[in-house]
This record gives sequence, structure tokens and C-alpha cells, in this order.
Amino acid sequence: MARQNIYDDEAFFDRFKTLRGNAINFNDCIEHPIITSMLPDVRGKDILDIGCGMGQHAKQYADMGARSVLGIDISEKMLDFARKHHATQNITYQRLAMEDIAELDGRFDLITSSLAFDYAEDLGELMAGIGNRMREDGKLVFSMSHPMATAWDGTYDRYTRSESGERLYANIGNYFAEGRRVVKWVVVEAYEFYHRTLASIIHAITEAGLVIEDCQESRVSEELRNQYPDLFGGTIHRPDFIFFRCRKGL
Ligand SMILES: C[S@@+](CC[C@H](N)C(=O)[O-])C[C@H]1O[C@@H](n2cnc3c(N)ncnc32)[C@H](O)[C@@H]1O
Repeated sequence: MARQNIYDDEAFFDRFKTLRGNAINFNDCIEHPIITSMLPDVRGKDILDIGCGMGQHAKQYADMGARSVLGIDISEKMLDFARKHHATQNITYQRLAMEDIAELDGRFDLITSSLAFDYAEDLGELMAGIGNRMREDGKLVFSMSHPMATAWDGTYDRYTRSESGERLYANIGNYFAEGRRVVKWVVVEAYEFYHRTLASIIHAITEAGLVIEDCQESRVSEELRNQYPDLFGGTIHRPDFIFFRCRKGL
């Protein structure tokens, strides 16, 4: 499988760190409250956080009473940050690509992932690997970019705007052209992620023997949209993220 490690690119990492560190950002204002609302009780649980990045979620789960948290990520820079800023005695950060989770020992009560599965070329294989690492009564709770957002392939404008720049509606093209997207994003010319349709995501989950218990889309409140129109104004037109909570089938 092809694996891009863009977060170890100096310029990309610095830009991401700045965006993620802003007081108002998509992760903290939108992703974090929704995934948190979908978690089972984490107290006393052994948790694996895939694509843990700078460790904010791992630290959150430890603070919520998890017994242990293992955060894995492909990026050494992200892990360095996590070890410096989001460490506790029951969190371990390990450099490991999600494609290689079969290398891990043991199983987990809860496997989580925030916005990292966009980078998995073969979501079905990843889901099967995750299923093998879940305890029988284990759960998987994850977010990823919504297929309406990942359809964008850089060849058209994401929004149609009024003359004054207001976003009138979202544009979606090439939705059924699944696969690798390579687009210019912020500071990099070739930012890679994978687009799949909603049905493909669901099939990847269920064909791995997992049962979907809940699904959410990142609906943003009117209050937040009105308060920060430049950042969140487009969110009335389409969701940026999709969330699933799954358990093992019988
Ligand atoms: C958008 S960031 C999200 C980080 C963190 N989960 C959060 O919510 O802030 C995506 C993360 O996925 C990691 N990642 C990308 N490809 C990966 C792979 N193949 N295996 C493991 N982690 C990967 C990146 O290094 C990055 O830390």
C-alpha cells in the first residue's frame, strides 16, 4: 500500500500545528464534540487511538479514566509533539502505520480514530485489521472526512459564490470516481487522500464483520456559523466529517 507521511514535511507540519493550535478550529469546535458524544464509557478501558497525531484525543481519553491508551501514528513529528505536550503515565505513543496494526500485541476495548482514515488506501483491509484487534465486546469509534468533501479533486471550486464572495452552495463533482486524490492544499502541491462513496465506506465496515451502531455527520450550529462565518459559513451546505460507532458482529 502507498503511504504518504506528509505530516513529517516541515512546512506542512508547521502549518498544521498553527491551524490545530488556533483557539477556533474544525477539530476542536466540530470534530471533538461529536466523537466525544459517541464514545462508550471509557473508564477502565484499554484504548487504541489510530493516527493519534499530537495526542489531544489520547490525553482526553486518559483524563476520562481510561486504563491505558496506545496512540499510533506514522509521523515522528506528530508523535514528538504528543510526547512533549500530551503525556501521562498510562499513555504510550508508538510510531506505527495503521496498515501495520497486525504487528500490535493484544486487543483493545475501544479503538478510536479522528480524521486519519482518509489516508488509508484500502479501507476494507484496515477495518478487517481493526476487527482483529478488538475484544469481543469492543467498540470502534471514528471520524473521517465526509465523502461529499473528499469528492473534491482540485479540478473545480468547492463552492459557488455570490459576487460578494458569499458561499451560495457546495459543488460536488466526480463523486463516483473513487480512489486517490492528489490536490494542492495550503503549503503542499501534492496532498494525498482517498475518496470513496458513502456506500463503499459502509461496505468496508460491514464486510469486516462490524456492525454500525451509530452514524453522525458534522452538522454545525447556526450560532457557530454566525459567529465565525469565514471559517464555518460553508458548513450549512455540506458536512465536512462523518462519524461511526461500530461493534463486532456475532
Ligand atoms: C488530520 S491528522 C489527525 C490527528 C489527530 N487524530 C487529531 O484529531 O488531531 C491525521 C493524522 O493521521 C496520521 N497518519 C496519516 N497516515 C497514516 C498512516 N498510514 N498510519 C498512521 N497514521 C497516519 C498523520 O500523521 C496525522 O497525525
